[in-house]
Amino acid sequence: KFKITIIGSGSTYTPELIEGIIKRKDVLPITELVLMDIDERKQQIVGKLCERMIQAENLPCRVVMTQDLDEALKDADFVLGQIRVGKLPARVLDEKIPLKYNLIGQETCGIGGFFKAMRTIPVMLHITERMKELCPDAWLINFSNPAGIMTEALLNHSDIKMLGLCNVPFNMFKSIRETLGLERPNITYLGLNHLSWITAIEQDGKDYLKTALEMGLNSEAMKNIPSSGFSKELIQMVGAIPSSYLEYYYFKEKKLKILKESELTRGEKCMQIEEELLKIYSDSELHTKPELLSSRGGANYSEVAISLVDAIYNDKQEVHVVNLLNHGALDFMEYNDAVEVCAVVGKDGAKPIKVSNFHNRHIIDYMRMVKAYERETVEAAVTGSEDAAMRALLMNPLVGDYNIAKACFEELKQAHKDHLPQF
Ligand code: G6P
Ligand code: MN
Ligand code: MN
Repeated sequence: KFKITIIGSGSTYTPELIEGIIKRKDVLPITELVLMDIDERKQQIVGKLCERMIQAENLPCRVVMTQDLDEALKDADFVLGQIRVGKLPARVLDEKIPLKYNLIGQETCGIGGFFKAMRTIPVMLHITERMKELCPDAWLINFSNPAGIMTEALLNHSDIKMLGLCNVPFNMFKSIRETLGLERPNITYLGLNHLSWITAIEQDGKDYLKTALEMGLNSEAMKNIPSSGFSKELIQMVGAIPSSYLEYYYFKEKKLKILKESELTRGEKCMQIEEELLKIYSDSELHTKPELLSSRGGANYSEVAISLVDAIYNDKQEVHVVNLLNHGALDFMEYNDAVEVCAVVGKDGAKPIKVSNFHNRHIIDYMRMVKAYERETVEAAVTGSEDAAMRALLMNPLVGDYNIAKACFEELKQAHKDHLPQF
């Protein structure tokens, strides 16, 4: 029996994952796929499309839909976590309320991301507790955001096997290979989730980072980030290629202006796309993932997630970028800090690859500052300490000011009160 459970399967991204499973059907002999969600409507519409996709391929795999967490987790081999506590309306609050305080409103960065963490950590910790009992040997592959902070919380406050995932590194690698015309470059990627850089590119002994810096190469444009792109001067000044999430930090004022001037927030746009997708998914003639899904930011998620499952299940000893505990890979970070780095993945999980002789002070100091924010964030989420919450927000480069942070914190706390058991 090979059982994969998707928690939050009502997400319109799920057909992506199914596509990934189908693509690897010869190496991943899945016998049971459990689609768990608490939103019955979305679970049914998305789930039935997933069923049709699997039937169309004649996979010998049973599909089970349930709203019961314990049933979903029982004897699972892999659990894919993709929950959104409070759903898109909660995201929209994270995006809109900060703007009133002249703070960036974004679902994973700044104070919006902080509240997303407050809502998500208690639920994910509950899931890991149930996993401990019902499938203690299973792997949790989590992309619930903020994925880095979730990794920080779950690996330091629970006792299960888990890896955090994001599609940004995959998309950055892909575009670098394509732009530089490289087939098998050795890329050094490091940072925290949504705060990361490519710091070295090498192939056949040749240094391609130099080439990239000279070109002022931008790594990727994510569908969900109103992209300005980085100038050559900026990239050369940093000495590395930043992920596009760094735009929120390096262009804070400009980004804030763009966000304030947009008619709809990204979450509101996603609500529209989601309804359109659900309408398309409802067509019982549809047996494949529709093109419209690629207008969401999660492009290539399936590849990232299912190739990781493949690497573990088939002990491939392959390099993947994942979120996991540092354990000495970066000597400037603490041992148990969750980081996003290259790791060798096989049946025993992921071993982070040590990065030696790293001297980019800008990156070191930026990571340490944002990690300080993340640690306090986890502390606040787990204990409900509002002092920890304020210390977190003071360390976050997108927040910083005590009076503003406090006022915005109070408003968001009120707005999200149904999903914040810790406060
Ligand atoms: C990227 C990020 C994800 C995020 C997504 C949002 O893929 O890596 O962490 O969830 O964008 O996309 P959306 O379409 O929901 O704005
Ligand atoms: Mn099994
Ligand atoms: Mn991500």
